[in-house]
Amino acid sequence: MQSSEIAGKARFDHIRYAQLWEDADVLCAALGPCPGGTLVSICSAGDNALAMLTLDPARVVVVDLSPAQIACMRLRIGAFQALEHPEFLELMGSRPSTRRADLLTRAVASTDADTQAFWQELEPLVVAHGAGGAGRFERYFRIFQRYLLPLVHSRRTIEDIFVGRPDETARAEFLDTRFNTWRWRLLLKVFFSNFVMGRMGRDKAFFDHVDGSLSDHVARRIRHAAVTCDPSENPYLHWIMTATHGEALPMTWRAEHYGTIRDRSDRLDIRQDALEAFVSTGEKADGFNLSDMFEYMSPDVFADVYGQILSAANPGARLVYWNMMAPRRVPETHADKVMRQQELEDALKATDKAFFYSDFVVEEVR
Ligand SMILES: C[S@@+](CC[C@H](N)C(=O)[O-])C[C@H]1O[C@@H](n2cnc3c(N)ncnc32)[C@H](O)[C@@H]1O
Repeated sequence: MQSSEIAGKARFDHIRYAQLWEDADVLCAALGPCPGGTLVSICSAGDNALAMLTLDPARVVVVDLSPAQIACMRLRIGAFQALEHPEFLELMGSRPSTRRADLLTRAVASTDADTQAFWQELEPLVVAHGAGGAGRFERYFRIFQRYLLPLVHSRRTIEDIFVGRPDETARAEFLDTRFNTWRWRLLLKVFFSNFVMGRMGRDKAFFDHVDGSLSDHVARRIRHAAVTCDPSENPYLHWIMTATHGEALPMTWRAEHYGTIRDRSDRLDIRQDALEAFVSTGEKADGFNLSDMFEYMSPDVFADVYGQILSAANPGARLVYWNMMAPRRVPETHADKVMRQQELEDALKATDKAFFYSDFVVEEVR
């Protein structure tokens, strides 16, 4: 395995993200159709690499340093094969269910022994919260939703967030008069302090390169999700506030893509390794989903890894990635090798339902 800066700092022995908190609709629109090509994706929980199958590539190479994250992908592949779409939603936690233990058994039946053993141990968590609720990040949101949110808002107010409001004025009025109370502002400040988030949600190492206050950032992004966009269409906000999905679902979990993803899952090439290792194989790709991995790197390492990725990219390949707080865009040393797709970025940023990110980047190799 190639060395990777973050690997030495953060522990990868448990599921960190049990579902993708990056909007696959935005990702796929940024990459564009890729018939017959090769795409590369960070795995995380697997959802976005699966969504990339809808772009019709010959192959999606999926990489992650973490065996637990790879196990999330293998569970999904088994579930797509063994379950009907409504059953899949129950297993993942989008919908309530009393039969998740049975669904889990069926989903892992075709997977390897390690994956089966891994999920068997997590069965109680899956039964309680769904497989999409079994990560540390989701546990963090659950503590927020179960124990803290009720101190601030009634169930009725929470439900009212997701009543469709046709225009921005009505949404702004709801946020300003019903939701953004002093109690809510206090909760944001305490819960989204860098200290608490580092202890309970993300590994502290991930904040080494982050500037500014996390709670101010979250407050700005909530306005984007609640006013600029329509909360009734936002599955991520729905999960954070209610620990399940409403009518709106993340792209990969929607019925319209279920058959396509199931039929193309043999095009996935899963590797438990650093993304940097893909480069050393000499293979080339036509597009990269880089998640927000650059944010976890120091600027020098970022410039180095960016250069390695360019050397494994075919002309016209797009590098797609997010930044939450640390600014990362093509490093100066490589600026002449890519073209920023600003119009596309701006259009997609405005619709990004995974609202925590402050920046979304699409750079195309010349
Ligand atoms: C970058 S993290 C971010 C996830 C996402 N932003 C979220 O909030 O759900 C996604 C995954 O990247 C993996 N990862 C980080 N750096 C990597 C690298 N250099 N090579 C391969 N995987 C990496 C981590 O193991 C993790 O599972």
